[in-house]
Amino acid sequence: MPHDTLTPSLPSVLAELRSGTHTLHVALEKRLPFFSDSLDTGLYTRLLAAYYGFYQAIEDALSHSAWIPPGFDLHARLKTPALEQDLQALNINPGTLAQCPTLPAMNSQGSVLGVLYVLEGATLGGNVLRKRIAEHLGLDAHNGCAFLYVYGEATGRQWKSFLEFLSDVPLDAQGCDEAVNAACSTFSRFERWLERQEVLL
Ligand code: HEM
Repeated sequence: MPHDTLTPSLPSVLAELRSGTHTLHVALEKRLPFFSDSLDTGLYTRLLAAYYGFYQAIEDALSHSAWIPPGFDLHARLKTPALEQDLQALNINPGTLAQCPTLPAMNSQGSVLGVLYVLEGATLGGNVLRKRIAEHLGLDAHNGCAFLYVYGEATGRQWKSFLEFLSDVPLDAQGCDEAVNAACSTFSRFERWLERQEVLL
């Protein structure tokens, strides 16, 4: 036990985001059909279309948000273009797809950071998902599987720089709560949306 326990530091926002969303991540991961025997190109295409309906809506809202913390390069981290590219490769016109109408509140710097944490963290499982789709469906970044490995070999670097950014934004206890609430809401609204699109197990 360290001796400085009389002056404990506040738990970092990252620690709170991790513990606050862990159960939601485990639950959603179990319901996604990436490793299901039922996954074929048809279900994969419907899954990507459902992802698009959420990502397009949430990234559009972020692009118009006044609460993006200064210094965050949102444009360089948008994932909707990769989803569009995949859908076009799979002969789907993204313009015809439904968009999620119920998004998490993004009305403070804390809440925007919570949303960004989920969207950036979601890239971390990409390499394993990319391999599964390559082996099972024969798709790669050029014919329908760009989104799942959107940062490619830069995935680890991108995550590290996001975490550095996150830790540099000054957030008080209320800001931390807003971040955790928004992150949890992002997971649960995404899950509900995917459920309504009938792409979950
Ligand atoms: C079957 C699908 C998925 C798999 C296999 C998967 C796998 C992973 C893996 C391996 C990590 C890294 C864990 C670590 O390095 O400690 C991770 C982290 C993360 N994932 Fe997923 N994931 C999946 C789906 C998702 C989805 C759909 C979201 C959100 C929309 C998401 C959000 C996150 C977040 C926020 C983290 C960061 C956790 C942290 O703070 O380290 N994941 N995931």
